[in-house]
Amino acid sequence: MSASEPLVVVENVQKHYGDFQALTDVNLTVDRGEVVVVIGPSGSGKSTLCRSINRLETITSGSIRIDGKELPAEGRGLAKLRAEVGMVFQSFNLFAHLTILENVTLGPIKVLGKSKADAQKEAMELLTRVGVEKQASKLPAQLSGGQQQRVAIARALAMRPKVMLFDEPTSALDPEMINEVLDVMVGLAKEGMTMVVVTHEMGFARKAADRVVFMADGRIVESETPDEFFTNPKSDRAKDFLSKLITN
Ligand SMILES: Nc1ncnc2c1ncn2[C@@H]1O[C@H](COP(=O)(O)OP(=O)(O)OP(=O)(O)O)[C@@H](O)[C@H]1O
Ligand SMILES: [Mg+2]
Repeated sequence: MSASEPLVVVENVQKHYGDFQALTDVNLTVDRGEVVVVIGPSGSGKSTLCRSINRLETITSGSIRIDGKELPAEGRGLAKLRAEVGMVFQSFNLFAHLTILENVTLGPIKVLGKSKADAQKEAMELLTRVGVEKQASKLPAQLSGGQQQRVAIARALAMRPKVMLFDEPTSALDPEMINEVLDVMVGLAKEGMTMVVVTHEMGFARKAADRVVFMADGRIVESETPDEFFTNPKSDRAKDFLSKLITN
């Protein structure tokens, strides 16, 4: 543990599901304020990596540290550390029976011990920031997919996370709603949020990423600046992946 250690350190991580090895020798560091975009073919381990960083999956061996602290296996320490890692999924995962405002205030009240008044004030600020403050008293089903996903981002931010993980946050959205979510993410990146983003949106990668990590078969195959990766991919796997993106 040291003050200069990157915010996220993934070291020699192996992850098995039964006999199947989903992550092999994965090493990744994310500095404070860095935006890392993770891309790669289906089944390459992108979600497994995100879920491991958030401890939704137990790794088989290796080490994952957030801000110098090893992820504990379970218990209060895990709840606290998980609160430091915000996660936004493809399916928005809002609580269907709670209003938008309640969705955003629940964690701060229950986990961070905030007063209802403080939590609501902060929640309204965050909902305003992502442009859905007018929807605060509605239920999730009354919102569009893009609005729901922006609420999911606000809900994650309400926990004051040190790092935000996004796993294909726009993949379930209609095309016209993709940009309203990406714009919020670009804003977060510009404000200095540390982010790991799994996405097929190459425009976002070019605009917001400091680094592109390309995965194939459970391994990190390339880790480059977006410019270098898109103009000069080194591995055949990456070349093949990029050529398919362009023709699709
Ligand atoms: N719970 C599980 N049990 C068994 N195998 C799993 C489980 N979750 C994922 N896998 C397997 O691990 C591999 C990596 O899956 P993962 O979901 O991480 O890929 P991905 O890169 O996110 O793919 P996609 O682009 O389709 O989301 C796949 O072969 C998948 O079938
Ligand atoms: Mg996935």
